[in-house]
Order: sequence, then structure tokens, then C-alpha cells
Amino acid sequence: MDKNKVIVFDTTLRDGEQSPGCSMNTDEKIKVALQLEKLGVDVIEAGFAAASPGDFDAVSQIANLVKNSTICSLSRAIDNDIKQSGLAVQKAASGRIHTFIATSPIHMKYKLKMSEAEVIKRAVHAVEYARTFVDDVEFSLEDAGRSEIPFMKEVMDAVIAAGARTINLPDTVGYRMPTELASMVKELSDFAGDRAIISVHNHNDLGMATANTLAAVLSGARQIEVTINGLGERAGNSALEEAVMAIKTRKDAFGDLYTGINTPEIYATSRLVATITGVEPQQNKSIVGKNAFAHESGIHQDGMLKNKETYEIMRPEDVGVYKQSTLILGKHSGRAAFRDSIKHLGFDNVTDEELNAAFERFKILADKKKEITDDDVRMLITDESLNTAKTYELMGLQISDCSNGIPTAAVSIKFQDQIMKDAAIGDGTMDAIFKTIDRLTGYNGELNDYKVTAVSEGKDALAKVICRVSFDTETPSMVGHGLSIDTMLATAKAYLSALNSYLSQKERLAKNAQHQV
Ligand code: KIV
Ligand code: ZN
Repeated sequence: MDKNKVIVFDTTLRDGEQSPGCSMNTDEKIKVALQLEKLGVDVIEAGFAAASPGDFDAVSQIANLVKNSTICSLSRAIDNDIKQSGLAVQKAASGRIHTFIATSPIHMKYKLKMSEAEVIKRAVHAVEYARTFVDDVEFSLEDAGRSEIPFMKEVMDAVIAAGARTINLPDTVGYRMPTELASMVKELSDFAGDRAIISVHNHNDLGMATANTLAAVLSGARQIEVTINGLGERAGNSALEEAVMAIKTRKDAFGDLYTGINTPEIYATSRLVATITGVEPQQNKSIVGKNAFAHESGIHQDGMLKNKETYEIMRPEDVGVYKQSTLILGKHSGRAAFRDSIKHLGFDNVTDEELNAAFERFKILADKKKEITDDDVRMLITDESLNTAKTYELMGLQISDCSNGIPTAAVSIKFQDQIMKDAAIGDGTMDAIFKTIDRLTGYNGELNDYKVTAVSEGKDALAKVICRVSFDTETPSMVGHGLSIDTMLATAKAYLSALNSYLSQKERLAKNAQHQV
């Protein structure tokens, strides 16, 4: 064990996915996991396998596919949770079970209704049972931030003896101040010594998650639990990009400490997670926000021109924020220039099929839009890779002028090589589009969320629509992605994309259920 290495444990797919509006389907989770592997994350918490068949499926698929990161599944200190986690990670090149129980007086009294002795007994049993599936077991003392140190020491002694290798001390409700967390971590990491790695998991309720994570690292923690873009329950978790870049940038403060993160992959990972979840980081978010490297004021611009270090403490390229390609793409650009621009943006796992489809769309776009930006190309290729399920394909859309008349939409859709057409009226144009699609497909979607953003600047910008639609009460709502220069076309595509995801998720789960019989 290298004492200077800070293990990066990413929980975007578990704690991040738990935040409202961030649920992902299996295909989306796989895409994120493969990108986290490329980013160099040491441990990927791929989900909570016992939560649902969909969660189990996602964790086990990720365990099959990812080779260079440890794959972890979360479990309460309950046998069935641990068993599901054990089964889900069994094919991983390196698998971990993460089990937890609360140790704070308030949680034990009101939530668990258990005594200290009962909590220790349950924790020990959980770790011992988890060890029957894997060697690598992590134990979390939930709400450690509000737990008493003498009791935490008792729990730690017991679970380490039972076989836990990593002890995680979550500040579950984001309550601690950096100085307080630092002293707690120092005392408990000295107490653990070489017996276990001390990990921290900080929530951001008071905006101190990353400060707490870094204070903990300076006090002996050697694993940090973080998420991309700081997603997570309530106000979120400590953001991976912030903690990692602070350790890298402030060598004077962190000395020889380092992470294994391939930092130029940070921006691409942030974009992927934002595109899939539809949750954009705030504009002024550190490292990955739109303004993180923008210099607006004259004084700053003047300083930057004279010497970049006047206003820049990190180089944008160190986190994968590149300047616009020198090659300007337009309608005369060929496939080679397009491929080159995709490479420049860091997409090296694009299949020929995705590339060809994106190139076709690029050509159509270039006819309508004067200049194609890096953001346009990034979105075209991401949109292709997110919309691989194509049960229903939009072929045409016509909408009526709704200023005086009745909003009407006529839609044609391809389904199993057949073109189906219909038209409907609605309370507005969007409503008319959704009603027509529902009529054509026979599914009745409920729209839970809808967002439209411009991909780049200018009147001819591409519109990116993200919607969340539920099609039944048992399956979580599905995210649909649509991209077009026309907002209503992008809307129809996004709605169909959510339906296609729903159908492929259902098909996958039905297949899994058949295998299990
Ligand atoms: O915040 C928390 O306490 C958690 C644990 C399950 C690690 O997410
Ligand atoms: Zn948490």
C-alpha cells in the first residue's frame, strides 16, 4: 500500500443517482462507468444491487465490463442486501462490498431503534457475511459526523477484526466544519493505524463537502468518496473534480500525496454525466462550470494576455477543457476532418456506426448552420451514443400555426420497417406532439420534467432537449435526449428516445428474469 496515494472512490452511480431527477438506466450507467474507468477512478460504486432488478443488472453488467477499477455495490447491514451485492460483483476483476449501519445516537435511537451492542453485533455479522463473497469489504459508520468517538472506536475494532479493510466515516448530513472533521479523522486514523484504510464521504449541506474532504486527507484519510459534478443526496457530495484538482494544484499543501486520476478526462466525464442526467453544473461551478476558465473583465483579459498565471491557477487543458479546434468545420468539411475533431474532443471509443450516423447528421446540420463548433460536434456524437435503442424512429413532424388556431401535430414514425402516421390536437404544440406519439405507439407517457438548452451561441444554435417520462408506475422515469436545430423536432425525438430506453430496459430485465428461472 502506497501511503501517499489517495484512493478515489466515485459514487456518482450510487449516491449521485439517488438525487432527485438523476436516475439512469443500465445503458447510461455502463457509459458512465466506462468513462470513470478511463478517468482512472480506483473504485466505482456502481449501485445498490438489492434496490431493484434494474440496479442489480446495472452493477453486474458494469462488473463484467470494467477491468481497471474495483467495482463496488452498497448494502445495508442486512443479509439479502449483502448477498445481492456479492452476486452482482462476483464477475468483477476486482469486486468490493460496501456495507453500513448508523452509529450516531440520533440514528440509533430513532431510525434503527437499536442499542449500541445490537449495532455492533449487526455490523460484525454484516462484515463477516460480506467476506464470504469477497475479500475487499468496506464498512461505513453512517452519520459518523455526529457519532461519538469512543463508540466509533469500539465499532471500528469489531469490524476490522471481522475483516473490513476500509473504514468509511461519512458526514452523512453535511454538518461538520473542516477543523472538526480533521480532528476526528486524525484521531480515528491514528487509532486504525495499519489495520484499515480510512475513508471519508462528505455531503454538502453547508457547502463544506470538499473543504472537509481535503481537511480529512491532510489528517490521514487515504480514500475519498466523491461524485462527478458533486451530484448526490440533497445538496450533493464532495465533487471529484474539486478534490482531485486541489490535491494536484496545491502541491505545497499536499506534499507527496497524489491521486491516480487522469485529469484531462475530467471535463469529458462531467459533460457525459450532465448530458445523461440532464443536470447541468452551475455556470460558476469550480473546474467544470461554463465560466470556470472564462475571463470576462478587461483587467483580467489584459493580465491573461501578458501572463496566463496572473489569473489562472490551473491550465484548462489539464482538466480537458480545450480551446475550440483550430480546424473550423463547415459544409465543405469531409469525414476525415470530422473524425479528427472527434478525436480532438477526446472521444476514442466511438464505433464506426456511431461515427457514420453522426457524420450524416453533421452534413445536414452544416447545410443549415454556418459554423459548427466543438460543442455541436460533442453533442452530435454523444446523442448518437445515447440513442442506440431505436425501436421507434421519428421520420417526420408537422405542426400547425398555433397563434390563432388549434395546436395540431402530424407525426410519422418508423416501427419495424413500417411507417405509421397520425395527427392529434393538444393544449399546446408540445402536448399535441406527445398525444400523437402516444396514439401511434400505444404507450401513455407522463412527462415529469422537460428542459431545453442551446448547445452553442447564435440564432442558428442546436437545441438540446432532455425530458423525463414515466410509462408505468413500477419502472423509474426514463430520460430522453433529442437534438435538432428545430426545438419541436428535438422535443419529439427526446420523447421517443425516453420511450425507446423504457422498452430496452424492460426487454433487458425480462431476459434477466428468464435466465434466473
Ligand atoms: O451519506 C452516507 O452516509 C452514505 C453512506 C451509505 C455511505 O451515503
Ligand atoms: Zn452519502
